Amino acid sequence: MAQTIRSRIEAATKKLKKHGQDHLMRFADQLDPEQKMMLLDDIEKLDLELIDSLIAEYVLDEPEHTLPKEIGPAPVYTVPAPAALAPKYQQACEHGERLIAEHKVAVFTVAGGMGTRLDFDGPKGNFPATPVRNKVLFRVFAESIIATQRRYNCVVPWYIMTSAANHKETVDIFKRNNYFGLPSENVMHFPQGMMPCFDRTGKMLLAEPYSLASSPDGHGGSLRALYINGALQDMAARGIEYISYFQVDNPLVQVVDPLFIGLHALDSAEMSSKAVVKCDPLEKVGNFTLADGHMTVIEYSDLPDELARKRDENGRLMIEWGSIAIHIINRSFVERLNKRGFSLPWHRAIKKVPYIDESGNLIEPEKPNAIKLETFVFDALPLADHSIILEIDRADQFAPIKNASGVDSLQSSHKLQIERAARWLEAAGVDVPRKPNGDIDAQIEISPLFALDADELARKRAQLRPLKPGDIVYLG
Ligand code: UTP
Repeated sequence: MAQTIRSRIEAATKKLKKHGQDHLMRFADQLDPEQKMMLLDDIEKLDLELIDSLIAEYVLDEPEHTLPKEIGPAPVYTVPAPAALAPKYQQACEHGERLIAEHKVAVFTVAGGMGTRLDFDGPKGNFPATPVRNKVLFRVFAESIIATQRRYNCVVPWYIMTSAANHKETVDIFKRNNYFGLPSENVMHFPQGMMPCFDRTGKMLLAEPYSLASSPDGHGGSLRALYINGALQDMAARGIEYISYFQVDNPLVQVVDPLFIGLHALDSAEMSSKAVVKCDPLEKVGNFTLADGHMTVIEYSDLPDELARKRDENGRLMIEWGSIAIHIINRSFVERLNKRGFSLPWHRAIKKVPYIDESGNLIEPEKPNAIKLETFVFDALPLADHSIILEIDRADQFAPIKNASGVDSLQSSHKLQIERAARWLEAAGVDVPRKPNGDIDAQIEISPLFALDADELARKRAQLRPLKPGDIVYLG
């Protein structure tokens, strides 16, 4: 055994030396056998040829973003349906409902991010998100899935991508909460890939003397993680054809949307997206464009201001659609990508990453010191044979919780959640008290189990009471 470890250490050191990374073995002799194994496991997994090329391209150099030659507006199915398309929307809705009822749709939540901006201890899906009952995000999605299954008398399996940093804790949270009311066999967790973190000279960092500093490889890593962890195989065995993809941070997401699935399927698309009209030409969201003929998201940081502000002859922004990271992805598309081999472009981020210095001290940097590399799922859009976009009303489906305060925080999300609940109640004919400035003068939460949408709430009109100022109301 000792001999095996010794020879593995020698082999790893030799390999690392060739790539200028042998500092990673600096403490190897001082480690106990278990720690030595941990370090070797980390190092033997590295594809050092690939890492060399990534360092050259993305770490030592900051690749310049080259804009596509032709950038034009992306075609979008707007809401409400334009008169000429009303029959198509109707047909799409019915088709989508049929696909859900025929068990062809799965839900997929990407929950492998580090959630650093939120500053919450634990997986973000366990963050208390709702305004009255403080339900955690995972519970909100689970209730939506249960309500969808009841409505369509079907099974909607739920796939959740975690990362090495939060996998065990996420699975424990599900176990402790009885899978939030879902049968455990219909919930699958799997971890995404990790990428080493680099200092600015391209050296990999150690998080401990016996482990590398690494971070999740971005939500784009989901497309490979679905394949290598057997999730796609599981989907195939269940007859799933469409994957309803969304992020863990949006409590207003419609986990399965018949209209979206139906339009996607009727148009034979492979990967499609929901979009909102940007609130500002320079809003910090990805921009949908038709770039050299392909559906492409251009990051706000890569879109020149002049282009972002450009308007057509009717005064509309040429690039007016922002991405909210909600997609329908065909299982067959992800399979094809993986079987043929694919790569998504890498994006670099400079972040604060604690590391072990050459003397073995843990350094907690005060300023960003390290480069992390990630891929983004929307970069798969140009690889799809066809792609559609459906507009959504931002106020109805988008209330992300990303930051500890300010924009996209719990506070802003609560406000949006309460406002949506109030609109649904008012549409059902219930009086909702408002303050002179228009704000809702009540705390309201509607569980997806009570109503998945405004129409369902309206059908329950007989159970609804008028609200008084300051009321705290939970409909569950
Ligand atoms: P964000 O871009 O908000 O990143 O992820 P984050 O890591 O969660 O948060 P910050 O930037 O550290 O504050 C958007 C969505 O993509 C998922 C996140 O869990 C979230 O649902 N994601 C992100 C992954 O699943 N893996 C990743 O590597 C990155």
